[in-house]
Amino acid sequence: MEAILLVGGRGTRLRPLTISTPKPLLPTAGAPFLAHQLARAHAAGVTRIVFATSYRAEMFEAAFGTSAHGVELTYVSEREPLGTGGAIRNAAPALTSGPDDPVLILNGDILSGHDVRAQVELHEKAGAAATLHLTKVEDPSRFGSVPTDGQGRVTAFLEKTNNPVTDQINAGCYVFRRSAIDTIPEGEVVSVERETFPGLISSGQVVMGHVEAGYWLDVGTPEAFVQGSRDLVLGRIASPAMPGEPGQRLLLDGAVVSPRAVVRGGTAVGRGAEVEGGATVEGSVLQDGAFVAEGATVRDSVVGRGARVGAGAVLDGVILGDGASVGPGNELRNGLRLWPGIALPPTAVRFSADDS
Ligand code: GTP
Repeated sequence: MEAILLVGGRGTRLRPLTISTPKPLLPTAGAPFLAHQLARAHAAGVTRIVFATSYRAEMFEAAFGTSAHGVELTYVSEREPLGTGGAIRNAAPALTSGPDDPVLILNGDILSGHDVRAQVELHEKAGAAATLHLTKVEDPSRFGSVPTDGQGRVTAFLEKTNNPVTDQINAGCYVFRRSAIDTIPEGEVVSVERETFPGLISSGQVVMGHVEAGYWLDVGTPEAFVQGSRDLVLGRIASPAMPGEPGQRLLLDGAVVSPRAVVRGGTAVGRGAEVEGGATVEGSVLQDGAFVAEGATVRDSVVGRGARVGAGAVLDGVILGDGASVGPGNELRNGLRLWPGIALPPTAVRFSADDS
């Protein structure tokens, strides 16, 4: 089976991490985020993937080449981002599938443990134009919801509301009949969620919902990105692309952790990163060359490439951009983000995004 992988977004919610690296390539549990998706797609029977790129398009081919994790890869780039539907249409000429074949479409920022083969089986059995993975969430009012009828057929795409009629939401993994992709207008900005699916339903086509509520995470926000890395390292979701056994921590080549440091809770320590004695790092991502000095505490945070955390400093729920540095004694919390290269001098002042 072939797939199209949507990876052209700018990842604005994950800035500053996505200034230098597109979201799908951010190091996550020791590998670019997409490596986990490629490996899982391969395990689900996908043999060839067309990357639909736009933002920093050249970086994807440089990272993965023509084949990776058992999947043949090819790349189609949009000059201007065409939205999710426009990107699928733009990538379609690179497919080799026949008109009735199923084609998998994957958002490049979703970590999902759902059964893709079962989704494809439902699609084929129902003779559907498209079949969406729908997951269930505790608070559906934060999302648009997708109700289905007794036969599993999608009846509507509903906008966010305080009183959603269902807890089912679009999980960002679709099966399309190849010929249904060709009905998307060419060369235009199109949203698959807001235009293509509602259009298929109103024209009487069969759109099915494969409801499965296993592990599912959209890593589009800093909190979710850190959680995704943590869950992979801890083995809450299995990935054949993880370069090590699941456990409390994953140390990449050249990482140096003092025996007097505590590093746990699914922390990934990048190549050449260093954690000094007396420091505690929990549930975090230390990118390549990051440095955590003596007695510092880093929790649920990302320390970018070559970024430095000074002695005794505290980071809790913080993003440090590449090369940023936090002087000794600072205390940063609650979603605070330091842009690449910013250096915070030593201070005992407590800082929080909530204080601004
Ligand atoms: P934010 O800017 O933080 O909202 O992130 P994003 O740009 O990734 O947008 P969003 O999370 O809504 O995108 C969902 C998926 O579709 C991601 O994998 C994006 O890379 C991808 N995507 C979004 N817009 C486009 C586009 O115009 N072209 C292509 N090729 N992919 C897109």
